[in-house]
Amino acid sequence: MTQPVRHFLDLWRIEASDLRAILDDARARKAARQGWPQGRVDADAPARERVLAMIFEKNSTRTRFSFDAAMRQLGGNVLISTAADMQLGRGETIEDTARVLSRMVDAIMIRAHNHDDVERLAYASTIPVINGLSDRGHPCQIMADIMTIEEQFGSISGKTIAWVGDGNNVCASFIHAAPKLGFKLQIATPAIYHPDLMDLARAAAEQGRVETTRDPREAVEGADCVITDTWVSMGDTDHDERVDALEPYQVDSTLMNLANRDSIFLHCLPAHRGEEVTDEVLDGPRSRIWDEAENRIHIQKSIIAWCFGQI
Ligand code: CP
Ligand code: NVA
Repeated sequence: MTQPVRHFLDLWRIEASDLRAILDDARARKAARQGWPQGRVDADAPARERVLAMIFEKNSTRTRFSFDAAMRQLGGNVLISTAADMQLGRGETIEDTARVLSRMVDAIMIRAHNHDDVERLAYASTIPVINGLSDRGHPCQIMADIMTIEEQFGSISGKTIAWVGDGNNVCASFIHAAPKLGFKLQIATPAIYHPDLMDLARAAAEQGRVETTRDPREAVEGADCVITDTWVSMGDTDHDERVDALEPYQVDSTLMNLANRDSIFLHCLPAHRGEEVTDEVLDGPRSRIWDEAENRIHIQKSIIAWCFGQI
């Protein structure tokens, strides 16, 4: 019997044992290439002779360059396009795009406005599809964040993570991961920018320890890691309302000092310095944001290897 295609769309759909295997593989791969130039191929070259297509409907720095670097380090190649430059931008269906690319490359990464388009692409593809951010999740980012947290503290199981700010796509993927990997998630958002209720209900059904509050001070209490993200995500149109509602949620040194003494700070970036986080925190001793950005390469290599059935 042929194996089902391994898509990486949302963390809630992936077995906890697979997420653990991806995290362990990423840690081992990172350790094995310490001091190597970025372009040297890993000894096992698990993507040798494979090509990844990347489609971007939205801007990207980290996702674009880290996937490209990841494929080179795995011994494979990439093809990159914005959706606007493709016939997708002139109305060709996402399903027909999937069917064509399935004949040309070995996997697809897409950054899309609408999560439904990621789902439709995967449904019509005969090759793995990876979600490189949609309006409902950013699973590759959260795997890199968990890798970064585990570099600091060991296993994330039993740790407490505080999310402060907008209950957005990045927050959603943390909610998806919490029951899978056994960490406690304390989320503080204003009422109008609360996390997705379906995500919260699913996490509760899976015995996830996910708590929500309006009070950022309550969320960071006992936290090993404090995380925030932009108040205005790509595609959001209510800039002024968001900045007004989210102002009390800025992560500054006063708030960080209410978290555990050895707590760290993460941000997926790009940061809006002086809005969701102060320079003092971003550039301070607890910040691990540059490790977090680098880990996008390491974790994506293992996500790709998992998609190809090599983990
Ligand atoms: N964190 C992240 O996904 O960054 P980019 O938007 O630059 O890809
Ligand atoms: N929440 C942000 C993340 C960017 C990496 C956005 O969707 O724009």
